Amino acid sequence: MWRILVVGLICDLGFYGTLADDPYRLPKSLLPSKYVVDIKVPSEVFVNASYYEFSGRVVITFSVKSSAEEIKLHHSENVIVSSYVLNKVENSTAIPLNPEEYNSTYQIATIPVAEELDVDAEYELTAEYTAILEEESMSGFYKSTYVDEHDNNMYLVATQFEATYARYAFPCFDEPSFKAIFQLSIEHPRHLTALANTANSAIDDIDDNIVKTSFEPTPLMSSYLVAFVVSSFTCTSGEDIEKGVPYRVCSRSEEEPNRKWAVDIGPPIMRVLEGVTNKKYSDKISKMDQIALPDFSAGAMENWGLVTYRETALLWNENESSSSYKKSVAMVIAHEFTHMWFGNLVTCDWWDYLFLNEGFARYYQYFSAAMTDELKHWELDKHFIVEQLQVALLSDSTVTSQALTSPASTPPEISAKFSTMSYNKGASILHMIKSVIMDSDSFLLGIQDYLNTYSSKSTIPQNLWSSLEKFVQNSSLPDYTDFTKVIASWTEQSGHPVVTVTKSNDDILLSQKRFLLSGDANTEYYVPITFTVSQNSEQFTDTTVKAWLLPDYNLTIKGALKDSSWIVLNNGQAGYYRVNYDQSLWTALKSALLANPMDIDMMNRAQIINDAFNFARADHTTFMSDYSYAKVFDMLRYLEKETDYYPWYAVMTGNNHLLSRIGYDSTEGIQYSKWMVELMQAVYSTVSFTRVNETDMVYTLKQVLILSKMCQYGDTDCIEQAKVIFDKYKEGETINKNFKSFVYCTAMRHTSDGQNDFEFLWQKYKETKLMTERLTIVNGLACINDKDILKQLLKKTIDNEEGVRLQDFLTVWSYVYASGDIAAETCLEFVRDNHEALDNYYKSAASILVTNIAGYLNSEKHVTLLESLSEIEKFKSTVELILETTKDNVKWAIEKRKEIAMFFDSSEPENKKGNAVSLIPSILIAFSLALLHVFV
Ligand SMILES: *[C@@H]1O[C@H](CO)[C@@H](O)[C@H](O)[C@H]1NC(C)=O
Ligand SMILES: *[C@@H]1O[C@H](CO)[C@@H](O)[C@H](O)[C@H]1NC(C)=O
Ligand SMILES: *[C@@H]1O[C@H](CO)[C@@H](O)[C@H](O)[C@H]1NC(C)=O
Ligand SMILES: *[C@@H]1O[C@H](CO)[C@@H](O)[C@H](O)[C@H]1NC(C)=O
Ligand SMILES: *[C@@H]1O[C@H](CO)[C@@H](O)[C@H](O)[C@H]1NC(C)=O
Ligand SMILES: *[C@@H]1O[C@H](CO)[C@@H](O)[C@H](O)[C@H]1NC(C)=O
Ligand SMILES: [Zn+2]
Repeated sequence: MWRILVVGLICDLGFYGTLADDPYRLPKSLLPSKYVVDIKVPSEVFVNASYYEFSGRVVITFSVKSSAEEIKLHHSENVIVSSYVLNKVENSTAIPLNPEEYNSTYQIATIPVAEELDVDAEYELTAEYTAILEEESMSGFYKSTYVDEHDNNMYLVATQFEATYARYAFPCFDEPSFKAIFQLSIEHPRHLTALANTANSAIDDIDDNIVKTSFEPTPLMSSYLVAFVVSSFTCTSGEDIEKGVPYRVCSRSEEEPNRKWAVDIGPPIMRVLEGVTNKKYSDKISKMDQIALPDFSAGAMENWGLVTYRETALLWNENESSSSYKKSVAMVIAHEFTHMWFGNLVTCDWWDYLFLNEGFARYYQYFSAAMTDELKHWELDKHFIVEQLQVALLSDSTVTSQALTSPASTPPEISAKFSTMSYNKGASILHMIKSVIMDSDSFLLGIQDYLNTYSSKSTIPQNLWSSLEKFVQNSSLPDYTDFTKVIASWTEQSGHPVVTVTKSNDDILLSQKRFLLSGDANTEYYVPITFTVSQNSEQFTDTTVKAWLLPDYNLTIKGALKDSSWIVLNNGQAGYYRVNYDQSLWTALKSALLANPMDIDMMNRAQIINDAFNFARADHTTFMSDYSYAKVFDMLRYLEKETDYYPWYAVMTGNNHLLSRIGYDSTEGIQYSKWMVELMQAVYSTVSFTRVNETDMVYTLKQVLILSKMCQYGDTDCIEQAKVIFDKYKEGETINKNFKSFVYCTAMRHTSDGQNDFEFLWQKYKETKLMTERLTIVNGLACINDKDILKQLLKKTIDNEEGVRLQDFLTVWSYVYASGDIAAETCLEFVRDNHEALDNYYKSAASILVTNIAGYLNSEKHVTLLESLSEIEKFKSTVELILETTKDNVKWAIEKRKEIAMFFDSSEPENKKGNAVSLIPSILIAFSLALLHVFV
């Protein structure tokens, strides 16, 4: 699944029980093998806005593995079963049943059987039921509406079952390890089309208005992968995946022109993955439909044969949608296609091990896409480091971070497993295994062995390690330690280490400690060490392990520094850890950067920057006491000569956090931004407003990042050029699609006619139906520095007529509260004054929003405002939960402002002078970085 997470605080969830006594789990005594599901969706659903009923019948064939006197299965409280009938398959005898006992907490029905079921015998359980379509949750089997090109209200029904929502559509054994064949039919109005995982086998008349579409049986698979959609959508066929295996992209018909990119890029990605897995897609299923849904809770979902997407994740307009959306469409497709093997064919046995699905999908979303002819120049392997690994390290730096294999039991706990850990960290650990401990060829053999051995089964991590271990060279493991033990230190424990390098003549001494932003822990890891010294800088590309730093031991590498002035650890940042240098090594590294930055590999420059920002950010009472921001900035002076994308990306990630905390318009925030503008002169000169080259993806991403930040940090030249572009746009000229986001934002931030500019852009919003464009406009509008206008914008999010979709509600809000100090304050005031309307529009919106906004509060005034909210009963518990963290953030900001002020006071005079540019609160997340918050 591709999950959209909206920026906010990380919640800490308690965990429930263990498998043996977990009341949310079904016993393994009954094993389903086949479901025949017949669903009837009446025509009223598609014409009457308030009609939500449907009915169905499911026949479940199961076998008895150990003695049982009852049948337990899942269904939601909205599924009302009118009758159960049990038959023994062998002689078709009806077995009497007692009425079901239903427990709505566990969503488990228990049906006592009058006589004990025979072990090894097969039975068929038939359930007739009625149910209610979901709506707001956009999960289970749900109804969704949109307005078509002729202004008609249209309705469709669709599914989203991962992780625990198949039970909302039909009674089933709703756990990933219960794999079965699903044979579906759907009765629906004749003028609509039904799609499901497999091709349809028949369309039969029921009456004048209703037909029944029947589908081929699916391969053996988990319930969460079943999908069906009934709509009036149309499809575009692409190149067949192979002869007889059609590939199509489907959506609202008016989006037809925007399907082309997905149509073109899908088949090449599929072929690369067939090479990686050494398996044909068509081994299990003989068609692939991709469908864009106007309302969809996840970003995308890998249902076998019918992948569902948000419109922004699949549809791309060559004239209007930006290059970063083009990149993300390709990567979401690659992610979902990876799941056809990792997840669908071989499935995590339980959600504890979700990284077995999502880690691979996140990994190959970069590394398979990178292997296609179309995308091989995009450097996606490098994007992986700054977009995934560095983000994982950050999330994995708190005492509450969970281990990859942490247990989950309740639906909210399971939902929380769809996290940065399972995705980014899972992928980063796989990346470390492949590039540091193994090599590409042996890694491929290992995962092919894994796919062969566990095909159509479910797995636990040990299965993967055993397959990989067959191909690991002993020489690349620590002595007397097996592969599993090495890897378990990364997957069964939370966190990651910081390795400290100390110089001792020509030797280096290495020690490790778990890195935490605050707090302390004794956890240690098996850390594979690679390094490069100044004498031998071609080593940077060699990521193969050279030595192991073991738990409970320090490591000395003799003579490492012979004839060398500096050393960099962790080549290409392929290992999942941070590196801290002692004072003399740090000074040497800094001198090297200032003198000849290109001597140090570009990805390691990004690593040094990312590590340094996080060391400075950490609580110095427990960690890294010698890393002040002053020390980091002292190193950042080298940026005067930095013109590469990835180091700058790491800088902007660091700046986003720092500036949002200390306040963009605080004295120190303004000083810092001005200083950044000076440091950016060289890189600014490598990109220009006029040198546009969309075929060069890396150039384009760098161009947009640098121009948007230059404008945001207050560079007058940048602001002037952006305003000229916007003025021409108002006169009817077009804007380069990649410039839109920061041109809208800059123009709104520096507008002299806020109300009119706001109305102009909102008009554009209403005119376009292209979702990427709508989100870009809202992101731009959020930059305005006017409380009244911001409130007008927020008001539109709860107005049905304005077309902010339910799925985008939280995203739109995040654009606003993340856009600066005043905006965050405005959001909080708006929630206070409109909490009832908000809750009516979107369930529990008010409390969710307060929690999310709190992450962006940074002053005493904000804290007071937050405290005043607790006078309203419904906010009491929320405020209680987040007040301390918010106060800590404010305290942190006060301390850091001092540190920063000291740096600027002691620096050259030009860092202090002048206030030529007046800085206004600016956006925290420029659009290219906004994609960071999209989780696969
Ligand atoms: C629409 O469905 C609702 C719920 O079943 C029903 O109460 C209402 O009468 C229906 N409206 C029309 C116009 O049929
Ligand atoms: C079918 O099998 C059940 C259980 O083994 C047995 O009790 C029953 O008599 C059988 N019925 C027929 C019609 O053979
Ligand atoms: C579900 O079962 C648990 C444990 O037996 C019980 O405490 C709880 O009240 C039940 N809930 C419902 C809604 O029946
Ligand atoms: C993009 O613009 C060109 C030239 O105006 C036009 O021919 C083409 O149809 C447009 N493409 C889409 C997808 O709208
Ligand atoms: C390893 O080195 C660190 C830092 O120099 C030191 O604190 C620690 O005691 C050493 N540990 C061992 C096992 O020698
Ligand atoms: C655009 O970039 C591509 C790929 O880097 C390059 O081959 C091409 O020459 C560039 N075109 C222009 C006009 O600079
Ligand atoms: Zn996924």
